[in-house]
Amino acid sequence: MTAETILTNARIVLPDEIVEGSLLLRDGLIAAIEPGAARTGEDMGGDYIIPGLVELHTDHLEGHYAPRPKVRWNPIAAVLAHDAQVATAGITTVLDALRVGMDEDADLTSDDIRKLADAIEDSVREDRLRADHFIHLRCEVSAPDCLKAFANFETDERVRLASLMDHAPGQRQFVNLETYAYYYQRKLKLTDQDFKKFCEKRMGESARNSGPNRVFISAACHERGIVLASHDDATAGHVDEAIEQGVRVAEFPTTEEAAKASKAAGLGVLMGAPNVMRGASHSGNVSARTLAADGLLDILSSDYIPFSLIQSAFFLGDVVEGITLPQAVAMVTKNPAEAIGLADRGVIEPGRRADLVRVRLDDHVPVVRTVWRQGGRVA
Ligand SMILES: [Fe+2]
Repeated sequence: MTAETILTNARIVLPDEIVEGSLLLRDGLIAAIEPGAARTGEDMGGDYIIPGLVELHTDHLEGHYAPRPKVRWNPIAAVLAHDAQVATAGITTVLDALRVGMDEDADLTSDDIRKLADAIEDSVREDRLRADHFIHLRCEVSAPDCLKAFANFETDERVRLASLMDHAPGQRQFVNLETYAYYYQRKLKLTDQDFKKFCEKRMGESARNSGPNRVFISAACHERGIVLASHDDATAGHVDEAIEQGVRVAEFPTTEEAAKASKAAGLGVLMGAPNVMRGASHSGNVSARTLAADGLLDILSSDYIPFSLIQSAFFLGDVVEGITLPQAVAMVTKNPAEAIGLADRGVIEPGRRADLVRVRLDDHVPVVRTVWRQGGRVA
């Protein structure tokens, strides 16, 4: 028996246009797009239907597992709560970012991270989740324990993306030491003198570990078919290194120079949706709106606010001239799906997965009304 659903009277967002009409879903896939006359089916009341969002970098799972210092929640319950939040934000495919290599920002241990990964793998297997979950290993290559932590993921099949990051002070995200102090001196409650020592230690670790760890991890990822992302690239030299290591996605470039070089080399340029919404980067780096205006932005990611992803898709065109809704929607659907090689989703067209979101715009805020994954309602 085939399972069919008809969604009618919808504004369907296709890759280059918006069509009013109906969508026919069959057996978890999009079967047909029918412009014009209404059919008998579920009346969408003129709401938008967009592809289910594809999120490449959310840091949001850890907070559900460690909601307070020293508190650890049941990892399956944490995954379920996180899943519910991303699904109701219209995200049907999510790469949960898990730390590999602990820097000073980490309250968690490698064992904690392993428990979260197990809870994800187990929950996918047991069909507990609304969204389709994969793992993004965010590898702090400056950390002395980076390779040891990376080895904890040797057999995980859900690892789809790995990013190579170095958060030592004086470069990339933290060229400005004042911003670094704002993050870490306050957090770690260090005196000026101890903070100076701490910076020297971190810079030493970066100088020793980052180069060899990047080489090792990139080779291992190529062997396993894991897509690589660079992180916080600031200079053309950073981008050259990324290209040499076979990186495909440039995550959060911090300067226009790095974004331009990444784009020219054919990398997918990813920026934070919170940056789009706020009009600025939280660490004082280049604005995502500027990159969008200059044609240098391909992918948006919710980073630390899951709902920001759908918000940014409906907002970008309001603040950047020349960006259409289909183009902005592609930045949260088609482009991230393509970047990690998921050809079965991300676009509304016959044969693709029926991962869909019904959205009504209320006073510039997108209201997510219904979410379907493979034709089944999940939110
Ligand atoms: Fe960063």
